[in-house]
Amino acid sequence: MSCKNDEVRESVLIQGSYEVKIDALLSMMTLDEKIGQTVMYSSGMDITGPVLDKNYKNYIKNGQVGAVFNATGAAYTRKLQKIAVEETRLGIPLLFGYDVIHGYKTIFPIPMGESSSWDLDLMELTARTAALECTAVGLHWTFAPMVDISRDPRWGRVSEGAGEDTYLGSLIAKARVRGFQGNLADNNTVLACVKHFAAYGAAQAGRDYHTVDMSETMLRNVYLPPFKAALDEGAATFMTAFNELNGIPATGNKFLFEDILRKEWGFNGFVVTDYTAINEMVPHGYAKDLKHAGELAFNAGSDMDMQGGVYKNHMSQSIEEGKISIERLDKAVRDILRMKFELGLFDDPYRYCDEEKEEKLILNKAHLELAREAARKSIVILKNENKILPLNNSKKIALIGPLADDEANILGSWAAHGHKSTEAIVSVKEGFEVRAANFEYVKGCEIIGGDKAGFNKAIAVAKASDVVVMVMGEAENMSGEAASRTNINLPGYQQELISEIKKTGKPIVLVLMNGRPLDLSWESETVDAILEGWFPGTRGGHAIADVLYGDYNPSGKLTVTFPRNIGQIPIFYNQKNTGRPADIENADPRYVSKYLDVDNSPLYPFGYGLSYTTFSYNDTKLDTNILTANSIITASVSITNTGDYDGEEIVQLYIKDVVGSITRPVKELKGFQKIFLKKGETKQVDFIIKADDLKFYNHQMEFDSEPGDYELFIADNSNHMFTHKFLFEYK
Ligand code: NOJ
Repeated sequence: MSCKNDEVRESVLIQGSYEVKIDALLSMMTLDEKIGQTVMYSSGMDITGPVLDKNYKNYIKNGQVGAVFNATGAAYTRKLQKIAVEETRLGIPLLFGYDVIHGYKTIFPIPMGESSSWDLDLMELTARTAALECTAVGLHWTFAPMVDISRDPRWGRVSEGAGEDTYLGSLIAKARVRGFQGNLADNNTVLACVKHFAAYGAAQAGRDYHTVDMSETMLRNVYLPPFKAALDEGAATFMTAFNELNGIPATGNKFLFEDILRKEWGFNGFVVTDYTAINEMVPHGYAKDLKHAGELAFNAGSDMDMQGGVYKNHMSQSIEEGKISIERLDKAVRDILRMKFELGLFDDPYRYCDEEKEEKLILNKAHLELAREAARKSIVILKNENKILPLNNSKKIALIGPLADDEANILGSWAAHGHKSTEAIVSVKEGFEVRAANFEYVKGCEIIGGDKAGFNKAIAVAKASDVVVMVMGEAENMSGEAASRTNINLPGYQQELISEIKKTGKPIVLVLMNGRPLDLSWESETVDAILEGWFPGTRGGHAIADVLYGDYNPSGKLTVTFPRNIGQIPIFYNQKNTGRPADIENADPRYVSKYLDVDNSPLYPFGYGLSYTTFSYNDTKLDTNILTANSIITASVSITNTGDYDGEEIVQLYIKDVVGSITRPVKELKGFQKIFLKKGETKQVDFIIKADDLKFYNHQMEFDSEPGDYELFIADNSNHMFTHKFLFEYK
């Protein structure tokens, strides 16, 4: 125990549980010291919000701060920790948080990209690796995973989540919590912070921070389950969302934090607000001033104030006036101190600041290899006409496009310290330098803005080639926070450049980097192949070359629907049927639920992605078509690799509840398996269906499975479901 204060030393050495130690600590804390534990400030090292208070070091010194974020580096965090431990009256250590979203210095694909791997072990491992790197630089706490379901590609933050599906999103939430948090007793894992509670991904019109208004059944059936799953996996902390939900800002929403999170789910960690989210309750029109906002937030369950300074400046007055109770404050402080105990910070406040480890661990070979593997597994092939892919080295390639020789955007948003390691970042051009025997690079145009001055050279290089690979997409700051778009086409002159290159008659492979589903209707008609690379991270260039040249057979499948145009949004696979579905038999086509100008179906559905090989699905069967509360159904399918390459397939199981006490989606993912098959090989895949899999919240908010008929589909994506369809009954 290295706290300088004798009394504190004695209290934490008391034999007994953390609760006993915390009682002892609480008994010696002044009101201001208690409030201090509920306050977090950003250091100036990184800016992740609109307001910065440069006095944070003084506040630490005065015991007014319990946690700091955006401070990194073993030396710097040690320096700040020293102020807290040695210069304050009680010497209570600080908690250091940071947005380690998809890596610290070794950057993995953006979370939405990585979710396309459907590989839970991989996602656990990349989270664990991110934790390994960031704990070496003094961090205890990551503001991840982001588990917001979103069905709106205009919203820039789809890039940070795991896509549109609740079932898959819940499994991914669990995997990431396991990866980040592992065993907290080790000093190489971090507290996870599940965010943003709740329904942030349903912002109106996809505009960030915008209003959310939805039914409780929608909230509970679609948006909350990934949070619950993360909590079941042990997630230590939660972050509030910026949005209001049904008229009450999430940060001051008792229903969310008190009723659901604490009482119903039994959460006993602590809740941090998002950046100045308490203050924002004033412009929301929910609080009359900052003091009032603080009372609403704290009493609703927001235990720690991120950056707003509201608790610091107003809480003592609120307590004096009886607007906040001391018991409520003690409870928040207890929940925060418990985490500091669990992390071992009272034993050694510097146990995470390890310069030697920082040097040895960060960007090590194994991490970089994992980054390449994660990027390869995240790639989704959307189109591959005439088997133009994989490329081979007899072909001369024209490598064209603003993202081909790019190291500034390839990491995507929230890249933590990834950009500080330029020597480790591999652009597509660098990947080609290693892998391609014969290629010529020309940029052609900018991502956004610029002009057409580079077109002629690009056309000339294309003419002299056999195949054109065009690396295009969005800039990294076009997705992520505060990066909504109403036009989700390729920006700038990129489409025009494709159009000019098309005139050369050369086959075109479009390689995309982007943080959201794009409107690719025109591209899908124009180019020969499309490789969706997302923002692939530090080793993205190698991964893209691996896939283009067939060294890795792609297996990624979409976790978000790609629309045909922006007018279809929101479009997602598990929609409701309506009373006049477009495919209903014998109906006058004029009076069905449809658009006049575009089909209802998406351009690329959820669960879709191509491989260089082909798979056939045979012998699908159910062992019984009756399910009871105590029995199971086994659904099986035999999958054969019928193509020319070894490869992986993601086999998907969907269920439809035909008649419900509330209407039910046309299908819901209820299982999947990712299997590897050598060419010619056959494997049987079994899915177990239990009554629990059919549960949903009804209008009375009862979570149960309802007796009746169900349809079951085994398919390779959410649209190919009618080939292997069965009926069963739940009794
Ligand atoms: C605001 C973002 O909404 C949140 O996701 C992030 O963790 C915080 N800023 C801290 O940077």
